[in-house]
Amino acid sequence: MIARMLKPFIVVAAAVLLASCGPPVVVATPVATARPNISGNWLVAVENPTDGTFRRTYFTLDQTGDQISGTIKNNNSRLVINESTWDSTGFSITNVQRNGANERRTTYDGRLIGSELHLVQRRRAPGTPGGPPARPAGAPPAAPQPAPPELVAHRVAAGEGALPAKISLPELHKVPDNGIARTPAMGWNSWNKFAGRVDDASVRGMADAMVSSGMRDAGYTYINIDDTWEGDQRDAQGNITTNRKFPDMKALADYVHSKGLKIGIYSSPGPTTCAGYIGSYGHEAQDAKTFAAWGIDYLKYDWCGASMLHGQQDEQALYQLMGDALLASGRPILYSLCQYGAVDVWKWGADVGGNSWRTTGDISDRWSSMAGIGFRQGELAPYAKPGHFNDPDMLEIGNGGMTDTEYRTHMSLWSMLASPLLAGNDLRTMTQSIKDILMNREVIAIDQDALGRQASRVTGADSTREIWSRPLADGGYAVALFNRDSTDKQMTIDFAAIGIDVRGKKVRDLWAHKDIVVTGTQYAEVVPSHGVLLVRVSK
Ligand code: GLA
Repeated sequence: MIARMLKPFIVVAAAVLLASCGPPVVVATPVATARPNISGNWLVAVENPTDGTFRRTYFTLDQTGDQISGTIKNNNSRLVINESTWDSTGFSITNVQRNGANERRTTYDGRLIGSELHLVQRRRAPGTPGGPPARPAGAPPAAPQPAPPELVAHRVAAGEGALPAKISLPELHKVPDNGIARTPAMGWNSWNKFAGRVDDASVRGMADAMVSSGMRDAGYTYINIDDTWEGDQRDAQGNITTNRKFPDMKALADYVHSKGLKIGIYSSPGPTTCAGYIGSYGHEAQDAKTFAAWGIDYLKYDWCGASMLHGQQDEQALYQLMGDALLASGRPILYSLCQYGAVDVWKWGADVGGNSWRTTGDISDRWSSMAGIGFRQGELAPYAKPGHFNDPDMLEIGNGGMTDTEYRTHMSLWSMLASPLLAGNDLRTMTQSIKDILMNREVIAIDQDALGRQASRVTGADSTREIWSRPLADGGYAVALFNRDSTDKQMTIDFAAIGIDVRGKKVRDLWAHKDIVVTGTQYAEVVPSHGVLLVRVSK
């Protein structure tokens, strides 16, 4: 602190008179510190040991006197330096982001050692100014964290690592329907269980398990590789590359196809993906051709990295680019939009050729997350139709964070919503009860109903008991009674009140697998906490 207060002075002489008379005297002479000039483009490249890619952070610095400006850009963010300081040990550069009263600071402390810049990202304790939110009262103390690593940066050519030039966006038009996904996609996706750990072997294992578990025969078709399959650089011809977890994507696709399944992949309309790997920006047509040549059948196209260059007003045009490119690739490729439900995607998702579009942020394996997302979808019912479905995100069934009762609600709600059914668990190690949930054919038949109509909430008796219904292709209905309360609740349905004539009709409980008897127009049953009664009314 004292050193900072004396800055930028250097004490060059101190005459301390300890003679018997008079107070001590300290003489300080101000001398301007000689700053090294750190202007330039500096690169820190850190290898990811699991896949051999590098996380590259570029510090592009411009020093004028004591002032340092510039940017800190890594694979998925670009921060502008808006504060800088020097002291006797070196410099600090900071990006400050303000959101209302909240302030978030990212600071690197650095010093020049020979031709290297050594940088350490400063940790800010939770609850301190500029730091992450405070831990809730009573929460156990956070585990001590290891000291942040010292990063070593070297000078690289000006412009290296810069964002690509903005591409010119096409006029909006309607992309012709690709004819795929007349009913919602069914399959498996790697993200919820494996995130960055997905690799060739686990994908093959999942294809094997999809067959041996009976899921393929129950209708599950797609084996979808989510983010982290990509390399970190394109090849000399600009082709997208895989990282070493996926040595041969064509061979992997052939393997999945040999099991009677289809294979999906993931990319971004931005230059990088959410996890910081290569995205398809400016290479849409080239990548669509590569995917087709590998034998890919499904593309999830995830916005994240595009936000470094484009605002939400450009989303439709960027998604349209890939919609056109997939059609032009000559291979039928299901097109799954993922931009978390921004800018009313349900109103234009079909126009860009989308077969489905995410309507929400990411799901997690908790009741509050699943129910929060699922029960919020009611307004979107008018936008679902054969070939084009709302997507409230992938399934968490079998991942361990909810009870079987809650997973039955998850499966029922997603089926009522005509949502894609993309299992997100490890198919190689499923319990029998998880298999029974994922492979309940009577529930799957609701999801896959040819009419493709999404359920609407017909009554919310109170905030915890809800009844949803959807019409079916055979003239019947699926009706779900959900108990969102934390205790078991008696629930009554009056079919007449919701416009369903049950006289002479079969009414079947799709989880108990038995017909039920409706007296008059009403039926009552105790629905367990967080549970569901799902029935089908058919002629
Ligand atoms: C976003 C998506 C997720 C997943 C990750 C991968 O968060 O919403 O579903 O694809 O990116 O990085």
